Amino acid sequence: MKEKKLVTLAIETSCDETSVALVADGRDVLSNVISSQIDVHRVFGGVVPEIASRRHLENINAVLESAMGEASVAPGEIDVIGVTKGPGLVGALLVGIATAKALAFAWNKPLAGVHHIHGHICANYIAHKELEPPFMALVISGGHTSIVDVTGYNECRVIGKTRDDAAGEAFDKVARVLGLPYPGGPAIDEAAKSGDPNAVMFKRVFLEKGSFDFSFSGTKTGVMNYLNSEKQAGRTTVTADVAASFQLAILEVVVSKALNAAKLMKKDKLALAGGVAANSLLRKMLGEECAKAGIRLFCPPPALCTDNAAMIGCAAHYKFTAGGKDSLALDAWADLEL
Ligand code: KG4
Ligand code: ZN
Repeated sequence: MKEKKLVTLAIETSCDETSVALVADGRDVLSNVISSQIDVHRVFGGVVPEIASRRHLENINAVLESAMGEASVAPGEIDVIGVTKGPGLVGALLVGIATAKALAFAWNKPLAGVHHIHGHICANYIAHKELEPPFMALVISGGHTSIVDVTGYNECRVIGKTRDDAAGEAFDKVARVLGLPYPGGPAIDEAAKSGDPNAVMFKRVFLEKGSFDFSFSGTKTGVMNYLNSEKQAGRTTVTADVAASFQLAILEVVVSKALNAAKLMKKDKLALAGGVAANSLLRKMLGEECAKAGIRLFCPPPALCTDNAAMIGCAAHYKFTAGGKDSLALDAWADLEL
């Protein structure tokens, strides 16, 4: 008889996506329902925390019902409830955590709280069934930019991270000054396709020799200063050229550091994760550099790069099968080290 698969119900509400997924054996997605609030926040040019929490509260039950229905899974078939415990917006996280705790209590199921970034890394296990640790991961999103040495399913070490803005945050802020719509990352990605990446030479910040940390705020400020000085001089600027030049300045640093980290730690696999991993130029540049270095590159499809509950289900699966669980006292953490 075939062994029953371990089914995880997972909830993600750390920022502006309300998502519930059902995942079998960590890697098989039975359903992954995502309700995006992007349209609600667009008018404000960024995520408004109070509105995000309220929207999660309004949406969570419907998203949960859809996910259960789409997967045709009954409560009795669920083995563990996974949820993002942080980092993220505290009010937003709390909606997911309260829902997960209520389900765990009502259905008498174990609860596993997971780190959002660990979830992003785990998106690669869903997309690439053959992927196993160890590997190097580049986690690049609106809230984080880190290079992570992944040594096991539940073991990893951050070897470099941003000292100021996350890459996605810099993309979003530059897009705003360029008058591009929110979220800025995809808008810059698109605008840059028709621009000249060598039109303006923005600063590439590599920090101290050998450091795997990042700093993007100087490059972002460089764009703002350039736009101001051109305006003051009465010159017009070409949005596509500025977008392409900014994007290249950020990505040259990111690609160089991720490759150097993989080479230094003798990793033959590099996995991309986080919302900015959907960036077309980043994928192209990393693809070319990895091929030259003999490193295999893993990229989840764009839908698994941005926030979703399936990746949280995968992370919760590996935590739970290694004996990890949380009590109903589980709390939300705005800042949480990996
Ligand atoms: O992982 P994610 O959905 O949420 C966080 O955990 O932050 O990432 C969202 C970020 C936003 O900053 C968005 O602008 C960026 O990912 N992003 C992109 C692209 N698609 C999304 N940045 C650059 N190019 C893209 N194609
Ligand atoms: Zn994220």
